[in-house]
Amino acid sequence: MYTLDDLMPGRLVRLTMVVLIMVFGMLVAGNLPVFAQGTGSPQSNAPYRENTLSKQSDSELWRALKQGRPGLATTKRAEDGVAINTDGVWWAQLRQSNGPLIRYGAAGLLAVIGTLSLFFMLRGRLKIEGGRSRNKIARFSVTHRVVHWGIAVLFLLLAFTGLVLLFGRPVLIPVVGKAAYSALATASMQTHNLFGPIFILSLVALFITFIRGNFPTLTDIKWVLSAGGMFGGHASSGRYNAGEKAWFWVAILVGLTLSASGILLSFPDALGTRNLLQLSQISHVIAALVFIGFALGHIYLATIGTQGTLEGMIDGEVDENWARTHHDRWFAEIKATKGANRP
Ligand code: HEM
Repeated sequence: MYTLDDLMPGRLVRLTMVVLIMVFGMLVAGNLPVFAQGTGSPQSNAPYRENTLSKQSDSELWRALKQGRPGLATTKRAEDGVAINTDGVWWAQLRQSNGPLIRYGAAGLLAVIGTLSLFFMLRGRLKIEGGRSRNKIARFSVTHRVVHWGIAVLFLLLAFTGLVLLFGRPVLIPVVGKAAYSALATASMQTHNLFGPIFILSLVALFITFIRGNFPTLTDIKWVLSAGGMFGGHASSGRYNAGEKAWFWVAILVGLTLSASGILLSFPDALGTRNLLQLSQISHVIAALVFIGFALGHIYLATIGTQGTLEGMIDGEVDENWARTHHDRWFAEIKATKGANRP
């Protein structure tokens, strides 16, 4: 019978045995660098050894994975030891591609489009009372118009790319396929990330430029009670009517919600815990849907909904009869002062 000594020189066998025993000893003690946390120094391994999951029962193991245990991860931030996030279940159910956020969001936007279309079919375009006078009156300065169209273009870019990301899976993939959607989604994400911060700056500019004239007054209550004259009668108004003021404040407040949640979502590692990020994601989507809904109403009224409104935001001037029809008090003020041409 062969012994090990027959196969290998005795000294080599003894050396091999010593190395094997040493490696085994280090493994048992948990000191091998590959299993250790951080640099592998004996001090940094101590917490890891205390918290290792290997000796725990199944229920302890699951509890540790869900509640977190310091030392389970190599990084040190809050929640890093939480391997399974049970708090995220509500969020995942809400956000999934056939979930309530997507379904009710789409239903809400379609309801807004349907209502505007119905209103247009029933009421048609709201005409200037008495027709055009051909006399012009200054309404918006160059600053007003540059700020307005700046934020309008940014908004359209963000709204379009945001909708692609929100409704892409259920709506676009079945139509364009996964490969094309992947390219579109990547481009949308990058456009969204690039123009989001510029939108925040433009929101500040909108606030500063348009705040004057957008504070509520008693005339606004009468305007609301007469539904803005939509169903007959004349509704008096200052420089902006109650509907426009509401739009201004919605744009500012919902825009702030969008901005704050957008910043959190852009820097998840630095700023957010998981719960905060989930809340940010949901409030970002809801705020965006509310913003888009109101914007559809604003765009409708500013373009096909009323005659003569758009020109004020394009060349800065409106017809005097348009001003009398929609903003009689403002028109009277302008006429009473000499600065009729100063917006
Ligand atoms: C492409 C879409 C848009 C069009 C065609 C449009 C058109 C107009 C027009 C014609 C006016 C003048 C209304 C008047 O003379 O009383 C106006 C006013 C205004 N628009 Fe827009 N707009 C658009 C998008 C936006 C967006 C995205 C925002 C905000 C983020 C916005 C905010 C405002 C504000 C604040 C006013 C002044 C009225 C007020 O202060 O309430 N617009 N817009």
